[in-house]
Amino acid sequence: MTSNETLIQLEYIDKVKKILDLKRQELKRPLKACVTTFGCQMNAKDSEKLCGILKECGFELIEDEQSSDLVLMNTCTIRDNANQKVYGHLGVLHHMKKKNKDLKIALCGCMMQESSVIEKLKESYSFVDLIFGTHNIFKFAELLYRMYTEDGMIVDIWESTPEIVEDLPTVRKYSFKSGVNIMFGCNNFCTYCIVPYVRGRERSREPEDIVNEIKNLVADGVVEVMLLGQNVNSYGRGLKESISFAQLLKRVEDIEGLERIRFMTSHPKDLSDELIDVMASSKKICRHLHLPLQSGSNRILKAMNRRYTKESYLALVEKIRDRIPDIAISTDIIVGFPGETKQDVDDTIDVVIKSGFENAFTFIYSKRTGTPAAEMQQCEEGFVKEQFDRVLKTVQETARSKVGGLEGSICKVLVEEKNEHEEGMMTGRMSNNIMVHFKGDESLIGKIVDVKLVQSKGFYYFGEEVV
Ligand code: 5AD
Ligand code: SF4
Repeated sequence: MTSNETLIQLEYIDKVKKILDLKRQELKRPLKACVTTFGCQMNAKDSEKLCGILKECGFELIEDEQSSDLVLMNTCTIRDNANQKVYGHLGVLHHMKKKNKDLKIALCGCMMQESSVIEKLKESYSFVDLIFGTHNIFKFAELLYRMYTEDGMIVDIWESTPEIVEDLPTVRKYSFKSGVNIMFGCNNFCTYCIVPYVRGRERSREPEDIVNEIKNLVADGVVEVMLLGQNVNSYGRGLKESISFAQLLKRVEDIEGLERIRFMTSHPKDLSDELIDVMASSKKICRHLHLPLQSGSNRILKAMNRRYTKESYLALVEKIRDRIPDIAISTDIIVGFPGETKQDVDDTIDVVIKSGFENAFTFIYSKRTGTPAAEMQQCEEGFVKEQFDRVLKTVQETARSKVGGLEGSICKVLVEEKNEHEEGMMTGRMSNNIMVHFKGDESLIGKIVDVKLVQSKGFYYFGEEVV
C-alpha cells in the first residue's frame, strides 16, 4: 500500500533531481553513481532499492568507482573480515576524494548499526559524507537531499522501525529473477550472531503486498523469485491475518506466469510438516532447501541457542529426503565456536556425512562484540584452522559424490548469464540450485531450457542443450 511516507520520499526524489540537474548543467556531463554491496541476498535486495532511488534522482549507475560522483557502500558485519574489508576500502576512497573534492562517499547497511563503528568513522574517517543504517533505507532520498544541502558528515542511524515502506522505485540486477522480501529482522538470537542486533525484531510483510509485488515482477518478465527472510519458517507471526509460510507459498504458486519459487533461509527448529507437504506437491517450488546446521554437537548447539539437536536435525533431513527425493540440501557450518572440542567437530562431520549435503558453506567463528558468545572462552586459532580444514575436506567430498550422481540425465535449466571464462558458453541453474555450463548464446538468458548433463565437475556440470 502506498503510504504517506512513500509520498514524502517521492517528493525528496524530485528535490534531489533538481539539485543534480543544476550540477549536470554546470559540469556538462552525466552524473554517475557506483553502489558496492557486501554480504547476503538481503543486502543485495536493499542495494536494488537504493539504486532505484539513485536512478530516479538522475544518476547513471556504473560499476567503476573511479569515474563516479557518488560512491555508496552497503556493508555487512556478519563476520569481522567483512568490517575489515570496508575499512580497507575506505582508505582507497579517501585517496580518490583527495584528488576529487566533489566526490561524495556514503555508507549504509548492517555494519553501520554498530555504535563502535560509528564512533570510529566519526573519529578517523571524517571525509565520509553520509552514513545511515538498515532501518531507514527508505529515507535515502531525504538523506541525499540533506547531504547536498548541509555541511559536514550526515549520520542517521535508527535503533529500530515498525514501518515497512512499500512502493519506492527499485532497479533489478537481473531481468528474469528477483529477490522479494517477505520479512525483516530476526528474533532467534543465536549466541554467535549479530543479525538480531543490526536488523532488529522480526516483522512480516502483508501477504497481499508480497503477492502484488510478485505479480508486477512477472508482468515485467520475471520467471523466478527468491523469497527472502532471516527465518522464513516463522513468516506470518504478528500479522492480523493468520497465515503460515506454507500458506504464503501456496498463494505465490497460484501466480500465473511465475515458473520458479525459491526461498531462504529456513531455521531447522521451525520447519513444519505443512511446508514439506507444500513443497512435495508443488510444481514451482525449486528442489533446493538451505538448512543451516551450524554444528552437529548437542553441547555446542545448546550453547549457540539453536534449539534443535543433532538427532532432530538428522530426522528432519531424513523426512525431507523421504518426501522429496530429488531435493538438494545445502547448509552453513561454523567451526571454532567458543569451547568447541575435537569431539564436537567429529559430531559435525558425522552430520555432514549422514545428511549428504549437496553444498555447504563453512565459516570460521568470528567474535562479534555484543553477542553472548563474545563473552565465552574463545578457542585457540591454530586448533580452529585444523578443525576447519577437517570439516571442509568432508564437506567437499560429500558434495562431490552427491552432486556427481546426475550425469546422463536431462534437466530444466534457467539460463542466467554468459560464462565469464569460456567464450560461447552460457551458465544456468537447475531447480536444485546446481550450476550447469553449456554451449549457447545470449538470446537464451532468462529462458528455461532442457539440458543434458554430460560431465560432472564436482559441484557443477558441463551439459548440452536438448532441442
Ligand atoms: N561467525 C562465523 N559465522 C557466522 N555466521 C553468523 N554469525 C557468524 C559468526 N559470528 C554464519 C552462520 C549463518 C551464516 C549466514 O553466517 O553460519 O548461517
Ligand atoms: Fe543469526 Fe540465528 Fe537469526 Fe540466522 S536465525 S540471522 S544465525 S540469529
